Amino acid sequence: MEVKLAQRVNLIKPSPTLAITAKAKAMKAEGIDVVGFGAGEPDFDTPENIKEAAIKAIKEGFTKYTPVPGIDELKEAIIEKAEKEQGLKYDKSEVIVSCGAKHSLYNIAMALFEEGDEVIIPAPYWVTYPDQTVLSGAKPVFIYTKEENEFKVLPEELEEAITEKTKALILNYPSNPTGATYTKEELEALAEVILKKNPNMWVISDEVYEKILYDGRTHVSIATVSPEMKERTLLVNAVSKTYSMTGWRIGWVCGNKEVVAAMSKLQSQSTSNPTSIAQKAAVEALKGPQDKVYEMVKAFNERRDYIVERLNSIEGVSCFKPHGSFYVFPNFSGVYGKSYNGKVIEGSMDFAAYLLDEFKVAIVPGVAFGDDNCARLSYATSMENIKKGLDRIEEAINKLK
Ligand SMILES: Cc1ncc(COP(=O)(O)O)c(C=O)c1O
Repeated sequence: MEVKLAQRVNLIKPSPTLAITAKAKAMKAEGIDVVGFGAGEPDFDTPENIKEAAIKAIKEGFTKYTPVPGIDELKEAIIEKAEKEQGLKYDKSEVIVSCGAKHSLYNIAMALFEEGDEVIIPAPYWVTYPDQTVLSGAKPVFIYTKEENEFKVLPEELEEAITEKTKALILNYPSNPTGATYTKEELEALAEVILKKNPNMWVISDEVYEKILYDGRTHVSIATVSPEMKERTLLVNAVSKTYSMTGWRIGWVCGNKEVVAAMSKLQSQSTSNPTSIAQKAAVEALKGPQDKVYEMVKAFNERRDYIVERLNSIEGVSCFKPHGSFYVFPNFSGVYGKSYNGKVIEGSMDFAAYLLDEFKVAIVPGVAFGDDNCARLSYATSMENIKKGLDRIEEAINKLK
């Protein structure tokens, strides 16, 4: 039988970050000693109190359909968190829980974007934003941020990108892949441009790495800048990264109630509610003890310091010191043009292939994130692995001619 798939499937690519992790896992399964820097999730276990809450939910028979946009108890925990941490007040009608932040973002794209719309995505970007935008029929418009500006969007760059067709800006801070985040003043400057240039555009504020911050930084949401900004911000968050709960699939959006209602309508005809058991676990994550989060961030901080120093000590490599998240995004373009076995490294794909094939190190080529000069290394792996991997990267670079 001839398989004729819908055209929309050809518009998008499978997630390249998941693909590299899968390849590294397959090599490991064959017994090859691969050092993986591809992980997009913390290497810590979900805290015990959270697991216990899920087990309790199962034992008590909390195993049926729930309201489509999530249980009141979880919405209340989300509302309480937003108010306590950011001073943001939301009503339950302004909150929807979905199956992970990726699903939240997908629902937003489906509820808001359509053909003729432009969606501004600062690059380097998380790989999913352009594909979800394209799937919706809208056009991604990239702002190529610069390493010397700490990979942040400048107000003048934003001003230039906004048109009357702009439907939204997708802002992710702390960022995957660069680890950059914005100060309150920087967010205020961006907000000023938005309100001046296109008062009808939305800001989709992806804050899933908000707790993974270093050097005494605290997270500020762009929704806190002014009541006008709160009105047009769709705040996306999840328990995935903060509580090492990537497999539980709980994310949410706080924002305009008409958009939330539209997302809920879409969700009612696709996934229905997020898993009942995971919702109970998420309540415990948000309301229970937070000490495991601090322990995790402390470990990430040590690894970040080590990895940045090692990378910067390699000739031809420069690495921006991330403010948050658990990735570094070093610039390897200094080694492009060099070769091994007569084969020239032309860009991040060649470099990643060279590292994986010849030195058994998995990194994610920067081209996947819209920046071919760089590559992403996740330090959500043990210090031992990081040291071993960096020794191999250093050796690999020294062997290039
Ligand atoms: C910036 C960013 N947003 C959203 C997500 C998706 O999170 P979730 O696992 O909750 O779907 C990720 C996961 O890698 C991410 O890096």
